[in-house]
Amino acid sequence: MADSYGLFGFPVHHSWSPFIHGLFARQTGQDMVYRLYESAPENFRHDVLEFFFERDGRGCNVTLPHKRMAAELVNELTKRAERADAVNTIVRRDSKLIGDNTDGVGLVTDLKQNLGLKFTSPRILMLGAGGAARGVLGPLLELHPAEVLIANRTVDRAVELAQEFIDIGNVTGVAFDAVELSKPFDLVVNATSASLKGEMPHISSHAVNHRTACYDMAYGVGETPFTRWSKECGARVVEQGWGMLVEQAAEAFHLWRGVRPATPPALAALRARAAAMAARIPS
Ligand code: ATR
Repeated sequence: MADSYGLFGFPVHHSWSPFIHGLFARQTGQDMVYRLYESAPENFRHDVLEFFFERDGRGCNVTLPHKRMAAELVNELTKRAERADAVNTIVRRDSKLIGDNTDGVGLVTDLKQNLGLKFTSPRILMLGAGGAARGVLGPLLELHPAEVLIANRTVDRAVELAQEFIDIGNVTGVAFDAVELSKPFDLVVNATSASLKGEMPHISSHAVNHRTACYDMAYGVGETPFTRWSKECGARVVEQGWGMLVEQAAEAFHLWRGVRPATPPALAALRARAAAMAARIPS
């Protein structure tokens, strides 16, 4: 019987992960299935334990709103999951569940390998201080930035998140209107969920100039409000999170199966699928 993997989230029906892991499995000749599991917060713990210990699940991904609950549920955390205090990937080793977080490495791999960005002591602006921001902050700090500003609508959350990471980098939490704009940012990452609601965080256009790379961790068919705004501001590179999605999946796949799939074909297939869907949506 094929080995069983899946994604737990709420909601989860919109996910592209079965498509991606299906491509990876065919590419690397792995006998596995990857299914979606819609799991309400009150059922999450039970559903995951049942998947692993009654239905012989081998590994799973975890998405909103369960990433922090998953960190509490597993037996062991990898270093990066412990740092993020959030888990997006679980693997079963004998009777133990190990929680990892591949989101940050997914983002940084996309920035460096797929987009070819080179950073020397970058100045980074991160919009948002929720779970998505927390998951990627550690790997972003491994780029040795001169500074990371976390700007959030609720300033207290930005300040608290910055405090948690202050031991590994120069991180400060501020309100949107307190972002220091005298020097341009090299990288602006939108880690808010505003794009999902068709909204744009209230941030000055002076944060971006012709040298700035702007990255929306959200992804959608067509532009997001953030990618549209970034283009209007004249950013050098404007990207949304398709590459991050594929790279975090590849890292999870490697953890589960011990083989690393090639990501460019999956990313091309994803972009083609998104473009075909965009063409069917009347503007
Ligand atoms: P996630 O796990 O996706 O990060 P979350 O923990 O609920 O979800 O965090 C959502 C983030 O998006 C928060 O930083 C939130 O700002 P607040 O902390 O002020 O709530 C931010 N966000 C959501 N909608 C937004 C909007 N319309 N404008 C600006 N920020 C927004």
